[in-house]
Amino acid sequence: MTWILPTRSGQYVVGLAPRGAGLVAVGWGPDADGAVPPVAATSSFEADLDLLPLEATALGTRNVHGAELVVRRADGVRGARLAVSGKVTLTRDDDGGTHLECPLADDVLGLGVTLHIRTHPDHDVVEKWARLDNRSAQTVEVLRGWGGAFAVPAPGGARVDLLGGAWSREFTPFEASLGAGTLSIGSRQGITSHTYAPVVTVVPAGTGGVVRSAGTDGGVHPAGTDGAVRFGVALAYSGSWRMALDAVPFADHVRVSAGPDDESGILTLAPGTGLTTPVLAGVRVEGDADDLAQAWHDYEATLARTRGPEHRPVVYNSWFATTFDVRVEHQLRLAEAAAQVGAEVFVVDDGWFRGRTTDRAALGDWEVDTDRIPGGLGPLAEGVKRLGMRFGLWVEPEAVSPDSDLYRAHPEWAHHVDGRPLETLRHQYMLDLGRPEVEEWVLGTLRRLLTDTDISYLKWDMNRSIADGGRTAPGGDDWSWRHTQAYYRVLDALRAEFPHVTVEACAGGGGRIDHAVLARTDVVWPSDETGPRDRLAIQHGFLGVLPAWTMSSWVTDLPDQLDPDREDGPASLEFRFVVAMAGVLGIGADLLAWDDATRERAASFVDLYRTVRPVVHTGRVRRHGAPADPACAVQYTGPDTVVVLAWRRPGAGLTVRLRDLDPDARYRVRGEDEVRTGAALATDGLDVAWTWQDCDVVLLDRV
Ligand code: DGJ
Repeated sequence: MTWILPTRSGQYVVGLAPRGAGLVAVGWGPDADGAVPPVAATSSFEADLDLLPLEATALGTRNVHGAELVVRRADGVRGARLAVSGKVTLTRDDDGGTHLECPLADDVLGLGVTLHIRTHPDHDVVEKWARLDNRSAQTVEVLRGWGGAFAVPAPGGARVDLLGGAWSREFTPFEASLGAGTLSIGSRQGITSHTYAPVVTVVPAGTGGVVRSAGTDGGVHPAGTDGAVRFGVALAYSGSWRMALDAVPFADHVRVSAGPDDESGILTLAPGTGLTTPVLAGVRVEGDADDLAQAWHDYEATLARTRGPEHRPVVYNSWFATTFDVRVEHQLRLAEAAAQVGAEVFVVDDGWFRGRTTDRAALGDWEVDTDRIPGGLGPLAEGVKRLGMRFGLWVEPEAVSPDSDLYRAHPEWAHHVDGRPLETLRHQYMLDLGRPEVEEWVLGTLRRLLTDTDISYLKWDMNRSIADGGRTAPGGDDWSWRHTQAYYRVLDALRAEFPHVTVEACAGGGGRIDHAVLARTDVVWPSDETGPRDRLAIQHGFLGVLPAWTMSSWVTDLPDQLDPDREDGPASLEFRFVVAMAGVLGIGADLLAWDDATRERAASFVDLYRTVRPVVHTGRVRRHGAPADPACAVQYTGPDTVVVLAWRRPGAGLTVRLRDLDPDARYRVRGEDEVRTGAALATDGLDVAWTWQDCDVVLLDRV
């Protein structure tokens, strides 16, 4: 018995595991609907269930391969033996997706586990999650509560591509080779973290350009353009997490699974309660890294409420111009300059509230500082709106300063373990958002701000990890889970109540970016690093898994942090604009320090950006070369227009062999007479003319 879930260009197929012990992966990819269920060769040490590519299963159901669920009942019973407990259903969702539900249970333990798998014809991603229900009369501890796994066929092992980094160095590519053993990445910081993005690419090794689909009997698929088949797996979760890539010797596949971190937290299910695990998404692509990126972007388009400019305006943010010195008259002068260069929203960052003149105080006291903004936020917002812009505000609602009225009133609201001294990072503590009274207070505070003032852009920041997480209450070590679920509920409530408000997610840069955040916000701030060449490298990594329409990027006057004294000198204003135009353009420089000519130049780039924005935000993305090369470019292809953004070191040249064009169609570079076919642009390429000394923007129209 098999079930077929259609994706855009193939199928994901599952079958019943032996003895009804769950589901087994049968096929994945084009023509997978013809695949036959795998049969495992067993030994006296390895039962069939031990070896098969099971969908999510439990320790106790099998023991050789990793298990997604590790549970323990209060009386000490550990593990679960899962078996199908009802009808497996395959339904068509209202939006055209296909949804499989498989009810499993361990009746001795009293645990119900419903596996969910979902696909959609608009993309090639397979989503998996599980619902756990404690039907027993005792507490069940979930030591590992992961809802899905992908068995990536890799008989010769695999190369694993990761995006890792640190503050200001997010989305840096790393590579690991996995022949045998477990590769584990994650975060114990209560947020997704700067250290690893929760997404991996698995490139099976030694397949000679062809690869077997999981569990198929000899079904092979032709390789993609660079001879490889790639598998991407991403976790949609924003608290502490872990992803494990398990290559058991001779297993012929790498098992990839992930969920809430099973080292720093335990989830507790009281009798009669349950939980739904985060979604694990997997995608199989025959092609190169940009084909995989596009497969992710197609999926991410279904997570976004829109991709249009209404939720991603050109931002002016005054943070770098003023830091904590926020004064109304100064902000309005900056706003005038921002309107002059064409900003669509003016965002007042940190420092607008009572007592917040340094990073040492006042987080939690979300009342406007009437000494520095005497009329309050209302007149400031009106002043901004009179200039033709929307008004935006920065908040860090999960944080509290020890020196704040909020902390003095509610010290117990900070994440803490009774009796253990609290430690500050950036002079602040984090609120335990998982406490219902804190969640209510945070939502109430944001609701009040958004109701009292016409704010249509909210930058939600988060500036430290939650190192003091923990509680002394029973089940207290699920703090990260509770905090994260409350964060989602507050974002969901804000979106429902204030749909006109754009929400930008920030965590000291890119500390909390994942598919769950993408589904609830409009733009994300990938990094605090705005030095243009470093930023280009960060954006290169970002675009490999995440979409341009979420990638907030500002033009500033700041140098690169990694190599501020590089011999090719500072990047030009044009270079900085073209870097920021690659996503959602913003400006963060002190505009009052720019002369009239610079501001006019900036205005012309904002105009140019508005012209290319629809293609940048919805077109197909191809990266040509990498920022470490002497020259590189990013191509965005829409139905009628192609946009190429290019950057170089002094003297380097670049011929961009355009991709994704219709070979028979004819294209003209805007401003030129010559017309060339898509085929010619793909084979001979486009020589970048370098309109500005170190960068260029080329537009091609289909004629
Ligand atoms: C970190 C953010 O990434 C910056 O853009 C700025 O908002 C500061 N926090 C403010 O404290």
